[in-house]
Amino acid sequence: MKTVLEFAQAKLSQRKISMVTCYDFSFANLLNQTDVDCLLVGDSLGMTMHGYKTTIPVTMPMMVLHTKAVCLGAPNKFVVADLPFLSFRKSMADGVTSTQKLIQAGAHAVKLEGARGNLKLISHLVESGVPVMGHLGLTPQSVNGFGGFHVQAKAKKDQDQLFEDARALEAAGCFAIVLECVPSTIASAISKKISVPTIGIGAGVGCDGQVLVLQDLLGMNPSFKPKFVKTFMNGFEEMKNALNTFHQDVVAERFPTAKESYE
Ligand code: KIV
Repeated sequence: MKTVLEFAQAKLSQRKISMVTCYDFSFANLLNQTDVDCLLVGDSLGMTMHGYKTTIPVTMPMMVLHTKAVCLGAPNKFVVADLPFLSFRKSMADGVTSTQKLIQAGAHAVKLEGARGNLKLISHLVESGVPVMGHLGLTPQSVNGFGGFHVQAKAKKDQDQLFEDARALEAAGCFAIVLECVPSTIASAISKKISVPTIGIGAGVGCDGQVLVLQDLLGMNPSFKPKFVKTFMNGFEEMKNALNTFHQDVVAERFPTAKESYE
């Protein structure tokens, strides 16, 4: 996908959307040559790239730096960048300034977590020509409010609230909504009722698309295996084996050979 218009078209033609997180130039360059529809410079980079336990320490300068690298590496992809923790909650002006920085870094759209308290900002950004992706359910920036990373909207009243929030984001002008770690039945019901595509993570097959964290789907962290993650390769073991082979070849003087040496 190259433009925001293709999200609505995909929903209309019932073609599922694939989104993958990306944080650096070299993976962006690889993803640029895949069929994956859309890249997300997610604030999950706090964990995958910087080793934090949550997304809360992620700052605007970090997001801008990673967004620039991804956009340079993936010129053919639609890139969404996350507005990090509280960067859009202090005032409307702060939300606009943070968005401006991410779009000027090369992103085509921003994503922000939650509906309540954000609707005016979302409408204002959309009216200003900035596509906005919503994010509901387990919104990781609220981990302290949730008391941990748990499946959300299990109770009927929370499901009603989720529905209401999704409708509010649709009305505010979001072009797509991420639904994270919510029961598949409610995610599916919301996807059927709203006009904009839902992109699920731990939200079942009834969503209009799916997103995964790149490092999770490549199997690069064997100690992190929540139920919703499918690993599509054993990246950790394969890369470890390659690195050990390099080491053994150096020690045994099998590398470099004449082929890798200058006369
Ligand atoms: O930051 C992120 O990676 C995300 C996805 C999990 C949707 O927001």
